[in-house]
Amino acid sequence: MTNSTESIQAAQADLPAATAGSRLDPWVSAYASRASSMTASEIRSLFAVASRPEVVSLAGGMPYVSALPLDEMADTIASMIRERGATALQYGSGQGDPVLREQITEVMAEVGIHAHPDDIVVTTGSQMALDLVVRVFCDPGDVVLVESPSYVGALGVFRAYECNVVHVAMDEQGLNPVALEETIKRLQVEGKKIKMIYTIPSYHNPAGITQGPDRRKDILSIAKSNGILILEDDPYGLLGFDGVVPRAIRADDADGVVYLGSFSKTIASGLRVGWALAPHGVREKLVLAAESAILCPSNYAQFTVSTYLATKPWRDQVAVFRDVYRERRDALLDTMKVLMPAGTTWTVPTGGFYSWVTLPEGMDSRAMLPRAVNALVAYVPGTGFYVDGQGRQSLRLSYCYPTPERIKEGVRRLASVVEQELELIATFGPDALPHTEMPNFSSTPAPDVR
Ligand SMILES: Cc1ncc(COP(=O)(O)O)c(C=O)c1O
Repeated sequence: MTNSTESIQAAQADLPAATAGSRLDPWVSAYASRASSMTASEIRSLFAVASRPEVVSLAGGMPYVSALPLDEMADTIASMIRERGATALQYGSGQGDPVLREQITEVMAEVGIHAHPDDIVVTTGSQMALDLVVRVFCDPGDVVLVESPSYVGALGVFRAYECNVVHVAMDEQGLNPVALEETIKRLQVEGKKIKMIYTIPSYHNPAGITQGPDRRKDILSIAKSNGILILEDDPYGLLGFDGVVPRAIRADDADGVVYLGSFSKTIASGLRVGWALAPHGVREKLVLAAESAILCPSNYAQFTVSTYLATKPWRDQVAVFRDVYRERRDALLDTMKVLMPAGTTWTVPTGGFYSWVTLPEGMDSRAMLPRAVNALVAYVPGTGFYVDGQGRQSLRLSYCYPTPERIKEGVRRLASVVEQELELIATFGPDALPHTEMPNFSSTPAPDVR
């Protein structure tokens, strides 16, 4: 025990037992109630093992930034610092660099959005934009409607702000409008306050599904007629494998949608530059919230993006990324088609990073994970993408990072694990599956399960 831990515990000696901390964390009783919903996933420790080089990880959603011309990036950054270093390394505006905001309007024109730079707030990745929107809109207990399944990073934000997350069914076209309407009606009858519909219409994480144009119109019309804000999260919109760029929901409604964009998948995730496009009044609040969180986004990162957009053929680079991911998607799907046991189904993504796999009846992807990692392949169990324990029979496979050869090998290993589980179930019934303890490491890095 360190001296400071001792003094904290000594100071807490007078507190009633129920509020005193523990040896591992003497401050545990001092946390705000919202911290109780900030919990590490139980699969976190497994990902420390999964990140070993011999394991094929189909788990993480890391963009393949090596496809960037890194020497050219180095030159771009060096000349940017030489020419504008004193400003790039200084504090900047809370709303973000005006030149970059202007350029972001051009990027959004690709998805049909025609917006004013004044309505854009630049953020540290779109993850931060998510946090700001929820901070500005949601009180504890407010309902947020999300897809089934939904992006794990968004669920974390909703939980952190103590929202009541309600999943709405999806079908092969994405968020199901009939289910959406029914859910809204039911919650209204129960007197619940629905604050927003959070949706990822294009190349969904984790479902790998894209809403068609009519589906988007239906969802927008339901949201409008019920006075509910849409939070449209669109980091993958430009990564359609057939060159199709779906029209954003925000393109058809400037007042009822907050749109989130990101350069993480089209340039580089390490730059941490994203944005929110919001109705004018909302934008004002987001800027104030951003200033209180970080004062301002990094000028250095923004100028890097801005210089890159101004001097490099960025659309061609997006096409390079598309080609890389299309080849990897094909490697994944073609190998699954040949090797996955009968009864396994999966979505066929037309863009983005992920396919959502549903295992044969009776299987449990979370229970299977330690055995998969033993067989040197990792995935994210479906339960990670729900707040309510659904998703046991499903899992998410990411094809963005490993090479096609590694992907094929990963699927080979996964298929044989599924095969073995099925044999056990067929012979002895589902209860015969061994219960394998998760490895328990005391200090593990955060898993890459985005
Ligand atoms: C659906 C979705 N939204 C938001 C993000 C956050 O992206 P970033 O903060 O890197 O812009 C991700 C990252 O994977 C994502 O998949």
